[in-house]
Amino acid sequence: MMNFQYYAPTQVVFGKDTETQVGELIKAQNGTKVLVHYGTGSVIRTGLLDRVCASLNEAGIPYVSLGGAVPNPRLSLVYEGIELAKKEGVNFILAVGGGSAIDSAKAIALGMKYEGDVWDLYLKKSQAKAGTPLGVVLTIAATGSEMSDSTVITNEEGWLKRGLHSALIRPRFAVMNPELTYTLPEYQTMSGCVDIMMHTLERYFSHEMNTELTDYLAEGLLKTVMHAAKILLKDPKNYEARAEVLWAGSLSHNGLTGCGRTGDWACHQLEHELGGMFDVAHGAGLSAVWGSWARYVYHSDVARFAKFAVNVMGIPYDYADPEKTVLEGIEALENFFRSIRMPVSITELGVELGEDQMKELAYKCTYMETRTIGGIQKLGKEDIEKIYRMAK
Ligand code: NZQ
Ligand code: ZN
Repeated sequence: MMNFQYYAPTQVVFGKDTETQVGELIKAQNGTKVLVHYGTGSVIRTGLLDRVCASLNEAGIPYVSLGGAVPNPRLSLVYEGIELAKKEGVNFILAVGGGSAIDSAKAIALGMKYEGDVWDLYLKKSQAKAGTPLGVVLTIAATGSEMSDSTVITNEEGWLKRGLHSALIRPRFAVMNPELTYTLPEYQTMSGCVDIMMHTLERYFSHEMNTELTDYLAEGLLKTVMHAAKILLKDPKNYEARAEVLWAGSLSHNGLTGCGRTGDWACHQLEHELGGMFDVAHGAGLSAVWGSWARYVYHSDVARFAKFAVNVMGIPYDYADPEKTVLEGIEALENFFRSIRMPVSITELGVELGEDQMKELAYKCTYMETRTIGGIQKLGKEDIEKIYRMAK
């Protein structure tokens, strides 16, 4: 096991009706003027925004609101939010929604305290030194942004989707009521389940040995999500299944399933370029590339891929031919994705990829040939292009 730090300071407030506590939670964080930031309207339609605002009113906390965070949230709205929050003297940001509203709120939180252009932080030209505190009322189990230290924003200029990590943007609290996720369309529920699984898989596929506890946690999380996703396909208002995936979403991306190892993260980088260029749902983009990535890199660690096949996908170990076990495990996960109506190719994702676009994606993915991606196997531009081609 490698040395590691585990830091997960977000206060989780989980269960039915918990959104009514939001005013008091912000008061406890000394918030006295709030920016309520949300997406493209679901929180208005469901009445959640009204309930959240009622809680703020009850606690006597003034607020301004800004909606419009689209999936793959845009930099232009971040600029708007920074300006509004500064003008209004905001000292706490409340994101109400999914990963997109949360990530946009995180960008605003950093941008408010940064003298220059907040995009420079995403380009790693500079590092954030301060951020406005933020909290979350979560409406979708997916990204884990409610407990994570990361934000991913798309710059419309060049359609670059870039992420950044900073301890300054870990939400102070996350209100998580599984009932708020009942209204999700099936596609978003399942895309979220894929993303949750991928946050653990990206950590699971590492070379480090002797991470037994972390492996068990990861395998348990993956099996729980697969089981719950199947239930939600038939019964989207099943509270217990909604609760399991909501909690799994947070634990999958708060560092727990990566303790003691490095992680891979290539699939996320492959997806971020697809999301930036074609505006696809993040989880669906991940399932579209995962199988091709796995088949390309599994030779680098047959033992780890075989462990996944046996412990997670229930494939019997073939002692005479471990690679057969690996390939059956990869196919089994792809079949699971198919069973929850998630794409396993870029075409199924609804994107017809031309040769030039494939090259452009690979070029952007290497940050214009300045980096490789992946941990279990380092991938350069040529490798990335091959994986996109396999995934086509
Ligand atoms: O915009 P609204 O009206 O809210 O509608 C959203 C959106 O259309 C809808 N939705 C959300 N909750 C709902 C609902 N509809 C009905 N009822 C509800 N309860 O679902 C759609 C997707 O919402 P979005 O917030 O975009 O989804 P998600 O949580 O999957 O976030 C995706 C974004 O997060 C990034 C992704 O790349 C993508 O940009 N990620 C952020 C991470 C992080 N900060 O740690 C890690 C992830 O790996 C990921 O990259
Ligand atoms: Zn993700």
